[in-house]
Amino acid sequence: MTNRLSGKRVFITGAAQGIGKAIAEAYAAEDARLFLVDRDETLLEETAAALASKGTVLGFQAADISDASAIEAAVGKAEEQIGSINALVNNAGVNVFAEPLQTTDEEWQRCFDINLKGAWHCCRSVLPYLISEGGGVILNIASTHAFTIIPHTFPYPLAKHALLGMTKSLGIEYAPQNVRVNAIAPGYVSTQKVIDYWNSFPDPEKAKADTMKLHPGGRIATPQEIAMAAVFMISDECSFMNATCLTIDGGLSVMQHQ
Ligand SMILES: NC(=O)c1ccc[n+]([C@@H]2O[C@H](COP(=O)([O-])OP(=O)(O)OC[C@H]3O[C@@H](n4cnc5c(N)ncnc54)[C@H](O)[C@@H]3O)[C@@H](O)[C@H]2O)c1
Repeated sequence: MTNRLSGKRVFITGAAQGIGKAIAEAYAAEDARLFLVDRDETLLEETAAALASKGTVLGFQAADISDASAIEAAVGKAEEQIGSINALVNNAGVNVFAEPLQTTDEEWQRCFDINLKGAWHCCRSVLPYLISEGGGVILNIASTHAFTIIPHTFPYPLAKHALLGMTKSLGIEYAPQNVRVNAIAPGYVSTQKVIDYWNSFPDPEKAKADTMKLHPGGRIATPQEIAMAAVFMISDECSFMNATCLTIDGGLSVMQHQ
């Protein structure tokens, strides 16, 4: 590796497993300092310990991103432990999938509290640090659900559409302060979240095979394939990309038919 992220002090949510963990590992390999947040304390401690054992400078805090005061406190702790934050990766998210007319108020609330408002809590707490640092970067992990719809996944795509809207809005608002705000839209990625999705079908093996068949290349992404783009997008090599979204789905959302 080439120390592409030396000097970056990155706050990453949902970092205990899946895409967030892969991003943390890729950033650590490029010499970033990290502050990891996840609501799964046990997994978070394991991930942090594994990274620390390889020499990564990091801190971590178990917190739920839907809790604004917990996030505010975590950002303060991050500054004490790794220095003033100059990059944020809003990765934590959950699937909330229902039929529109069957969606309960509780499901609606949980979907937006985590997938949209949680990301906003982190932006609101971190932005003053980015501005006082003379600039910085926010990377939101959206989804191809931010611009396409899979039936029976309501209201998750609504929250991801709005997360893309927030990416554009904050990118424009804070460009004069040298803050870049972008998103990655992954398609299917092999994480626990997707395994849980397949397991929600009567025949999970068939559901998995059907997902693979949807893709022009016959497979889905690894978390590392998302993480390598995430390295570039917070790096100084990416200095003029702002208020936009990079799709990483193996071509799925462009293909009209198999
Ligand atoms: N896996 C995919 O196919 C896929 C595709 C497109 C987008 N995404 C998005 O990528 C992100 C990561 O997904 P993943 O597949 O790695 O998921 P995952 O379930 O494997 O990991 C998500 C992590 O986030 C944590 N988390 C969830 N809610 C939280 C909360 N409220 N506060 C703090 N931590 C919380 C979980 O504990 C978990 O460790 C999500 O935003 C997801 O919507 C995933």
